[in-house]
Amino acid sequence: MSDNRGSFTSRIGFVLAAAGSAVGLGNIWRFPYLAAKNGGGIFLLIYILLVLTVGIALMTAEITLGRKTGLSVCSAFKKLNKKWAFVGVLGAIVPAIILPYYSVIGGWVLKYLVVYCEGFGDTAAADGFFGGFISSSASPLFWYVIFIGIVTIIIIYGVRKGIERASKILMPLLVILTVIVAIYSIFLPGAGEGLVYYLKPDFSHLSWSGVLGAMSQMFYSLSLAMGIMITYGSYVQKRENIETAVTHIALFDTAIAFLAGLMIIPAVFSFMGPEALNAGPGLMFITLPKVFKSMTAGGFIGATFFILVFFAALTSAISLMEAVVASFQDEFKFSRTKAIIATLIICVVLGVPSSMGNGAWSGFLIMGMDFLSFCDYISNNIMMPVVAVLTCVFVGYVIKPQAIIEEVELSNTFKKKKLFELSIKFFAPVGLFIILVSQFV
Ligand code: PHE
Repeated sequence: MSDNRGSFTSRIGFVLAAAGSAVGLGNIWRFPYLAAKNGGGIFLLIYILLVLTVGIALMTAEITLGRKTGLSVCSAFKKLNKKWAFVGVLGAIVPAIILPYYSVIGGWVLKYLVVYCEGFGDTAAADGFFGGFISSSASPLFWYVIFIGIVTIIIIYGVRKGIERASKILMPLLVILTVIVAIYSIFLPGAGEGLVYYLKPDFSHLSWSGVLGAMSQMFYSLSLAMGIMITYGSYVQKRENIETAVTHIALFDTAIAFLAGLMIIPAVFSFMGPEALNAGPGLMFITLPKVFKSMTAGGFIGATFFILVFFAALTSAISLMEAVVASFQDEFKFSRTKAIIATLIICVVLGVPSSMGNGAWSGFLIMGMDFLSFCDYISNNIMMPVVAVLTCVFVGYVIKPQAIIEEVELSNTFKKKKLFELSIKFFAPVGLFIILVSQFV
């Protein structure tokens, strides 16, 4: 592993780095709008079940694959079995699709951060503010460029220590603030109905697209099925207990997503009524400003909040960009500079249409989706499940679960190894396969 690879690579920082990658816009922006759209409680229930079975098993498999081989994604598969190298390649393409549109949303967060810091929080709460912003051409593009610029600078100068240390302080702060806003939201007038919607599974809301959404969200939120965890795993020491690390990362990530839902969904009922549940990607940006506006010191809380969300988004975007850059370095033997330039070219090609897709280029639809939603769909609903199924088959039937179990047991006994084996051989691949195929029938 070349040492100039920007680094969340310090060995001790592993859990933190992995959690920093996992906790991001997926938790705070994506989870609540998917839950709102797909029946609330039932979505939450399916999501949690998926994390506990497929998610934990797959994360264990990925981190252990990385530690076992000491290599990043493409090379790891290649080393274990040449014929399966293509899974690593597929996995390496996913972050290149996610990074551009992720950064577009990161730009939106940055815009809100600045609006709040300037003291114009109430403007952001006005009806139509968000729609007006994303449908303009220059402004979202400008913030996108700034966001990508910040990520690039960190990647160039290296992430050594700074970000990891900051995560230690900022992540707990994010939790505290999320809890405060969530508690406030629950007690808003009319929020009770939203609370019930979010917490009580109603099986009449069960739909395949909801199940598919929950599954894609699970991969996305845990940063799975794209080699990031394999790469991180390659920096884990042999004495580290992988099983507990994975449990902690998964629980922490799920807790933040849960809280974000609690913060946003009851407020939707309170301020806008159930019709607004379908708002989609804009939900967080539309609802939260209204919550902040109704709070005492809401401007200040809003500003702090968006700073923390920005930070969560940044750590995730760094892991995404690092993955793309590292793949260029490893696979094409690019120098670091050349790899960064290549990555930025992808960001222009995919990011500009994602940013413009809500405004000037909104007529340009692929399969009925604007460009940003299309990138999200292709990477999360198609590519990640495919990579995940292949990884399960690879671990379950090619190298065999025992290979993973032995590696985990270098440090501790693997308590849930039976569940792991069953998940990786049967539950996960069969379940994922059914869900994946069902969307085409
Ligand atoms: N897991 C991150 C989030 O929840 C997003 C992400 C996906 C980051 C894939 C890295 C890789 O926001």
